[in-house]
Amino acid sequence: MGERMGNLRRTHMCGTLRIENEGQEVILMGWVQKRRNLGSLVFVDLRDTSGIAQVVFDSDISEEAFNKASKIRSEYVIAVKGKVQERQSKNPDLPTGDIEVFVEELKILDEAETPPIYIKDDDDVSETMKLKYRYLDLRKPSMQNNLKIRHKTARVIREFLDDNSFVEIETPMLTKPTPEGARDYLVPSRVNPGKFYALPQSPQLMKQLLMVSGMDRYYQIVKCFRDEDLRANRQPEFTQVDIEMSFVDIDDVIAINEKLIYKMFKEIEGIEIELPIKRMTYKEAMDRFGSDKPDLRFGFELVNISDVVKDSEFKVFSGTIKNGGEIRGINVNGNADSFSRKDISKLEDFAKTYGAKGLAWMKITDEGVSSPIAKFLKGEEINNIIEKMQGKSGDLLLFVADKPSVVFDALGHLRVEVAKRLDMIDKDRFELVWITEFPLFEYDEEEDRFVAKHHPFTHPMDEDIELLETEPEKVRAKAYDIVINGEEAGGGSIRINNSQLQEKMFKALGFTMEEAWEKFGFLLEAFKYGVPPHGGIAYGFDRLIMFFAKTENIKDVVAFPKTQSASCLMTEAPTTVSEKQLDELYVSVKVKED
Ligand code: AMO
Ligand code: AMP
Repeated sequence: MGERMGNLRRTHMCGTLRIENEGQEVILMGWVQKRRNLGSLVFVDLRDTSGIAQVVFDSDISEEAFNKASKIRSEYVIAVKGKVQERQSKNPDLPTGDIEVFVEELKILDEAETPPIYIKDDDDVSETMKLKYRYLDLRKPSMQNNLKIRHKTARVIREFLDDNSFVEIETPMLTKPTPEGARDYLVPSRVNPGKFYALPQSPQLMKQLLMVSGMDRYYQIVKCFRDEDLRANRQPEFTQVDIEMSFVDIDDVIAINEKLIYKMFKEIEGIEIELPIKRMTYKEAMDRFGSDKPDLRFGFELVNISDVVKDSEFKVFSGTIKNGGEIRGINVNGNADSFSRKDISKLEDFAKTYGAKGLAWMKITDEGVSSPIAKFLKGEEINNIIEKMQGKSGDLLLFVADKPSVVFDALGHLRVEVAKRLDMIDKDRFELVWITEFPLFEYDEEEDRFVAKHHPFTHPMDEDIELLETEPEKVRAKAYDIVINGEEAGGGSIRINNSQLQEKMFKALGFTMEEAWEKFGFLLEAFKYGVPPHGGIAYGFDRLIMFFAKTENIKDVVAFPKTQSASCLMTEAPTTVSEKQLDELYVSVKVKED
């Protein structure tokens, strides 16, 4: 049982006390981080959200407090009243390390059972336990700090957008399916039997309608829901900073967003990023880095050696080219000695997970070339390859031969993997780049048709509009992504604002106008009544926080995250529900047993 606080009112936060407070009478409240008994003295590290202060129980100062102190355990919630004194032995690792508080009065506000997980940063508790006891995990200073960074970033964003005449407007959570391409989370409607709302994958259509409404500049920090395969940087519900503007083209959207990005980095990281941010076309990004989200913190760029080996007797190479494929390589400069045959074999397995059939390699040494494919190649071919790859002694060259999509995917990921293994990625460095001129369509082999790469409302590049009907694969979009350190931090586009063009777009996607009306009729109807040119962007807010909090796990920046299987271990959501609830919703459940 806890005691009442009585006349105790907190005067200071634990982590704020400094030598300047010496001699002051203070009242602190918080959790017991740890207790040490040293004969006639009891030391307690008292923790609140601001940090830790050392409080001391001395029987000469208060016999009563001293006796009570022997009862307190880790994570008890207590209040202490006492005097700040300079410490004899200072702790330079603690901001409050110059002082301690000698306790005159102790109140135990609540007792605590032994917590099932450690409340400290460098623990090795399983993620399952941490998620089950999330509220305890959140007591850790690092987690508290992450949530504070998140809060501060939201504040900086709001401040900037407010200063620039953006209006924050909420949009519905119970809505119609939105066109972002993931699976929807559905909500049955009790009052409309057999009908379902979809939770929004993004407010895309709503923000476009707000432009039709004449709101001019909109933003929202908003939850989005996508039922997709989860990864370290994906949550089923995540947060977007969603922005839309009227009477703009690509450069206008990019310009204002660069100012926002600049301010975020300045105020959160204390870094002044260079403006304008680099831009790279999708084509160049794929060509050089095998990825539309290139990490520019290191090299190992892709080099196309197809022309050098097209007539080779090594069939893996020449055969691939005959079948319309290509051969590209990366030069892991100067690192030949860092990779044993066994290491390279692991890299090959890694490349295979991206569809590569193998990984050919060459180590260049002073004595010549060491490579399992050397025996298949003529001396001149080897020299030409090395020249093309700008190889020198000490280099490791890695090659993939396949159709371009596989070559890009395998080498694009491999260059990152190699840099990680070499431990050469600097977490404190930020490399930002806009990727522009995305293809408007991508070919969906399963559906055997073109699908929108971004979404069906994305405006084609003006000079490519005429290709819509004839060569859709060549049409580039007015779409852009902001990529930070190899992660897609945000993406957006200029939208179509003209019914004829929209119709052409649906045709290219293989929709009939009836199908288009069924899905997006409300938008098409709205588009009859005067639509301003408009465009926008959405940032993955959680991903921004991951950069600022320097973590690669999105769960570290979300207060109550879900697991890979989209469940919450703390609340145990999702759960089954009662027959009664299902009946009310006109829903019957059929679970296939495997
Ligand atoms: P997009 O689908 O690219 O664009 O999403 C924008 C950004 O949201 C982040 N993101 C995610 N973050 C965490 N978990 C997820 N499951 C997840 N999915 C996406 C990414 C991504 O860049 N309506 C358009 C934007 C626009 O055109 O204005 C949209 O939603 O960082
Ligand atoms: P093989 O002739 O299949 O034994 O392959 C000889 C070498 O070429 C091995 O090191 C393979 O990893 C490599 N290799 C095979 N197929 C490919 C490919 N498609 N791309 C790159 N390397 C390959």
